[in-house]
Amino acid sequence: MSRIPVAVLGATGNVGQRFVSLLQDHPIFRLAALCSSDRKVGGTLAEHWRLEDIPLDTEVAAMELQPLDPKVLTHAGAVAAFSALPADIARDLEVDVARAGIRVFSNASAHRMEPDVPLLVPEVNPDHIALVERQATFKAGGFLATNPNCSITGLVLALKPLADAFEFTEVHVATYQALSGAGYPGVPSLDVVGNVLPFIEGEEEKMQREAKKILGAWSDGIVPSPIEVWANCARVPVREGHLEAVSIVLREDVSSEDIARVLAAFRGAPQRQRLPTAPKQPVIVRTERNRPQPLLDGMAGEPARARGMAATVGRIRVTGRNVRFFVLSHNTLRGGAGGSVLNAELAHRRGYLA
Ligand SMILES: NC(=O)c1ccc[n+]([C@@H]2O[C@H](COP(=O)([O-])OP(=O)(O)OC[C@H]3O[C@@H](n4cnc5c(N)ncnc54)[C@H](OP(=O)(O)O)[C@@H]3O)[C@@H](O)[C@H]2O)c1
Repeated sequence: MSRIPVAVLGATGNVGQRFVSLLQDHPIFRLAALCSSDRKVGGTLAEHWRLEDIPLDTEVAAMELQPLDPKVLTHAGAVAAFSALPADIARDLEVDVARAGIRVFSNASAHRMEPDVPLLVPEVNPDHIALVERQATFKAGGFLATNPNCSITGLVLALKPLADAFEFTEVHVATYQALSGAGYPGVPSLDVVGNVLPFIEGEEEKMQREAKKILGAWSDGIVPSPIEVWANCARVPVREGHLEAVSIVLREDVSSEDIARVLAAFRGAPQRQRLPTAPKQPVIVRTERNRPQPLLDGMAGEPARARGMAATVGRIRVTGRNVRFFVLSHNTLRGGAGGSVLNAELAHRRGYLA
């Protein structure tokens, strides 16, 4: 089977480089174009590569960075484009790319909340992908599909099996978010070295509204979930991996064993359909009292292609109806590029890339 040509928009950024690392040897997709801002057009990705532990494929390293222009993508024969652009740039450009008949899998927040745009975590809401059929560009092949903010992805992976097994409507969460979540070069070093910043613009609101859409039911469109996520978000001096302290009050008494069992048993469409980037177990439960940690658990997930795609839950404590735990997920993999690649694998399996 010949591999499907794809492009990366914003290939030089934190998420863009993760896209390239996942796509340069992908069994279904083949990199056909790498696009960057005008500042870097004409150069190569090798000049800007920061994933020091992941070698850049020689052919990909030699590819010239191209301008962000739908004509460039059409000329390269791209069937799909993975977007890692800032929201203000993504807003119009992604629509133009979809109008050119190209399937766009985006990390940007620009279109996430539009009623006909799916906001996907494939283990949680795979059927929401059908929303793409309502988009004006769909008949000519193009569409937009998004993945959520990096701080909500790990949380909803844990909330979905709990919401299926127990009743609750409020979740309180405090986040300890990595620096790479702020893009490159991100937060000024003098603000964050030896410090914690208790404010991330727009993040708490995004967590609340995106959770409602992702966990929402499907009934001729998405019916928002009644679950409210009340977040306190902080940026901490960690490179990668968002750690979150979660508190939920259930309607019934449970035991910590019940919670651990439900989380560890969770499997979704990507696992059943063995999608290439799907982790065998989307939520890994640790019992050590000092886990999960970004350094030790950020890259959780197997097989090798799915490293960084599992969320890790630990320190489960239950008192009657009160449940507390920590959840950790990799922000640029599970919460960024890996999430989008898994969306595209789901779309491919459901015939949307034909
Ligand atoms: N980082 C995360 O954990 C994460 C997770 C989920 C979603 N997201 C979202 O994913 C998107 C990318 O995030 P990131 O962290 O990868 O950001 P980033 O490191 O700042 O990368 C942004 C990319 O967009 C390009 N770009 C910036 N300004 C541009 C302009 N004016 N015109 C054209 N291209 C421009 C950059 O090119 P240059 O290199 O030339 O500047 C770079 O390739 C954002 O929308 C973000 O909110 C991020």
